Amino acid sequence: MVAFLVAGFESTSSALAWFIHWMSKHPRVQQKIKTELLGDGSVQHLSLDRLDSLVYLDCVINEVLRLIPPATGTIRTLTLDDRLPESGAQLFKGDSVMIPFSNLAHDTRYWSVDPEIFYPERFLDEDKNHHPYAFIPFGGGHRQCIGQDLARFELKMIAARLMQKVTFGDGGPQVNAGGHSIRLAIIPKHVGVTIDFAK
Ligand code: HEM
Repeated sequence: MVAFLVAGFESTSSALAWFIHWMSKHPRVQQKIKTELLGDGSVQHLSLDRLDSLVYLDCVINEVLRLIPPATGTIRTLTLDDRLPESGAQLFKGDSVMIPFSNLAHDTRYWSVDPEIFYPERFLDEDKNHHPYAFIPFGGGHRQCIGQDLARFELKMIAARLMQKVTFGDGGPQVNAGGHSIRLAIIPKHVGVTIDFAK
């Protein structure tokens, strides 16, 4: 239980903080989420089916997790001697190998649209078929994050509710500069946004 709390709290709250920061910087994206949420205008209730139908919001959450993955990476320990396929670098049984999520998510070899920009549409179009290991914010293999479905559900539900109620605006370069602080997760250093309660 303690592991769940430690692993599940700052990671998810960091992704939410980044969501708010990116929304304040990208009014166009906010507007698209709001339009998707309005749908045919008849339903405000966020049932599971309704939440599942929000495909653009999925792209936004993916882009939040891609641009700054809350976890820097993961580590695997070799169970036998091996070589890296391209460089031929020798690795030995017992070596620890760091897999850096952010480097993979920003490697121009794996992304058609500039990986430095916040562009959720990439997941619908140009980068729909990205390399499977270029985007692994929850790790991979049989030790991948056990809480990822819960985390995605929390993020999507809270993001949708926020976008139904408020609009975030950029609080200005000094207070809303982003930047990184690394604690358990990578969190934004400066998130200063305005909140407009008119939808
Ligand atoms: C945005 C939110 C989250 C992110 C980015 C995240 C990321 C990760 C990553 C990268 C790993 C290591 C995976 C690997 O080595 O392949 C991990 C493991 C783990 N996560 Fe998450 N996580 C999140 C939310 C959660 C939540 C909500 C829970 C639980 C309620 C949770 C519980 C765990 C546990 C228990 C492990 C260890 C799994 C194992 O070693 O078998 N995580 N997470």
